[in-house]
Amino acid sequence: MNYNTENDLIKFLKKIDRKKKFIITGKKSYYNSGANKYFKKYFNKNTNFFFKRENIPTLSELKKIIISLKRFNPDIIFAIGGGSVMDYAKIANNLNDLDNLKKNIIFSKKKFRKISQLIAIPTTAGSGSEVTSGAVIYINKIKYSVDGKDIIPDNFFLVPKFIIKNNKKLKISSGFDAISQAVESLISLKSNQKSLMYAKKSLKLCLGNYLNFINKPNFKNSFEMSLGANLAGKAIAISKTTAPHAVSYPLTSHFGISHGNAVSITLDDFLLFNYLNLEKSMSKFDLKKRYNLLFRLTNSKNIFELIEFIKDLKKKSGTEDDFNKLNLKKEIVLPKIMSGVNLMRLSNNPINLKIEDLKFILSNRFTK
Ligand SMILES: [Fe+2]
Repeated sequence: MNYNTENDLIKFLKKIDRKKKFIITGKKSYYNSGANKYFKKYFNKNTNFFFKRENIPTLSELKKIIISLKRFNPDIIFAIGGGSVMDYAKIANNLNDLDNLKKNIIFSKKKFRKISQLIAIPTTAGSGSEVTSGAVIYINKIKYSVDGKDIIPDNFFLVPKFIIKNNKKLKISSGFDAISQAVESLISLKSNQKSLMYAKKSLKLCLGNYLNFINKPNFKNSFEMSLGANLAGKAIAISKTTAPHAVSYPLTSHFGISHGNAVSITLDDFLLFNYLNLEKSMSKFDLKKRYNLLFRLTNSKNIFELIEFIKDLKKKSGTEDDFNKLNLKKEIVLPKIMSGVNLMRLSNNPINLKIEDLKFILSNRFTK
């Protein structure tokens, strides 16, 4: 299996020495990961940088990136950073008609025209965005997805030394995103044998390394976490995500809850809801068998032990899922989630979720 490691990256960088390079990154991700020192000798000529400023990908910043990209007209684009950097690079490289940008995003028009080759180097473990066919962009705090095989980066490299230096908060959030993506992929209506294989491998790696990666980071657990996140990305590129992701987006755009944290809040709730409604599953696969697999992967005997396992993982990692402690008031949060929930992601949930189910599940979160 080709992991696209650091050695491969160095060979690649030497090969493209004379090419025009455009780097999309964030100040924090570039400097804190040590990428600035690492790439210094490779990015010293024919190179243009765009440092993103926004915490979540927005239309106005995307426009700025597209303008710079078109002006510089690079041979190669590098996206070096976390999920938002990847989102920007994937969209800007493919959907770049500035006059119709907003319209094309809102109406999911796939008017893709590639500017150049895109290389993704994640500095988190992670969204897996380096291998997914989707990219997120927020317009007026509403989440939109640009989807299509054409926007998948042409290549990616996993460099554990960039990830090992992540601060704890980033490790907690991005690692939980990877875990949730793999779990959601396992039970998504669009899951198939290939995504199942990726999700299984991802969970073995992520669950085996997550806590140590946060508390005792070393090269091995950083590498295995980044590989686990990458495999979760490959899994959701096929299966997409489900309910926990669907309700997470308003929490991020309106209340600044980091993506992985926002996803973690309802993961156990939806796992329980789906299990209690197994007989209503709309999946082509046997949902009970998928749960049995989750039980084995988490050393749980039944659904209650699985729920405990997830809660325990949140507690031990320091992932805050208490709306009260997150300073979120029910009367403000609930309407924002209900109006901003992503219906496309919700439709991948194996059990049909009615508005009342959603309200019930979310309301319970305030009384826990
Ligand atoms: Fe995610």
